[in-house]
Amino acid sequence: MKTLFSEEQLRVRITELGAEIRSAYGDQPLTAICVLKGSFMFLADLVRAIGGDVRIEFLGVSSYKGTESSGEVRITHDLKTSIEGRHVLIIEDIVDTGLTLQYLLRMLEVRRPLSLKVAALLSKPARRQSDVPVDYVGFSIEDHFVIGYGLDLDERFRNLAYVGIYEPGLDD
Ligand code: IMP
Repeated sequence: MKTLFSEEQLRVRITELGAEIRSAYGDQPLTAICVLKGSFMFLADLVRAIGGDVRIEFLGVSSYKGTESSGEVRITHDLKTSIEGRHVLIIEDIVDTGLTLQYLLRMLEVRRPLSLKVAALLSKPARRQSDVPVDYVGFSIEDHFVIGYGLDLDERFRNLAYVGIYEPGLDD
């Protein structure tokens, strides 16, 4: 398994992102939305790096995916508190085609947050099908299938502490 980003590289970059985000919002309260399941580890580290007044919400989504993302998303767990009038930050593990994020932005915008932004640990710009804004990006990567640090292949590898490039044959 090839390591793409080590624990240390993740820690350093997420600390930087957290500081950047906190300075953008000043001391205003923020709602961080963890998009399940892939973002759980990134959320846990990022909200500690942001500090201050942060409310945590979870949004369960499941994409109707065959081999390609369709952008059709089913909500399996909705937010438990209102985001109306609040600064909201969507926390994503990875933006690939951007179709999932496009759906989520449309869905959350109608709930009238004060602001709505996106933080993604990883982005694959070469794969983009929708021109979605990603305000904070940890790392832009090539078109690799990555696993670990929350990201899975058929529900496996989420518990790796680093991000690796999936190599077929690894799990045979
Ligand atoms: P999108 O709608 O194509 O942007 O898909 C985003 C979702 O697909 C992410 O939130 C991940 O759950 C999943 N995904 C995309 N690329 C990868 C990858 O390389 N490894 C693991 N999951 C991925």
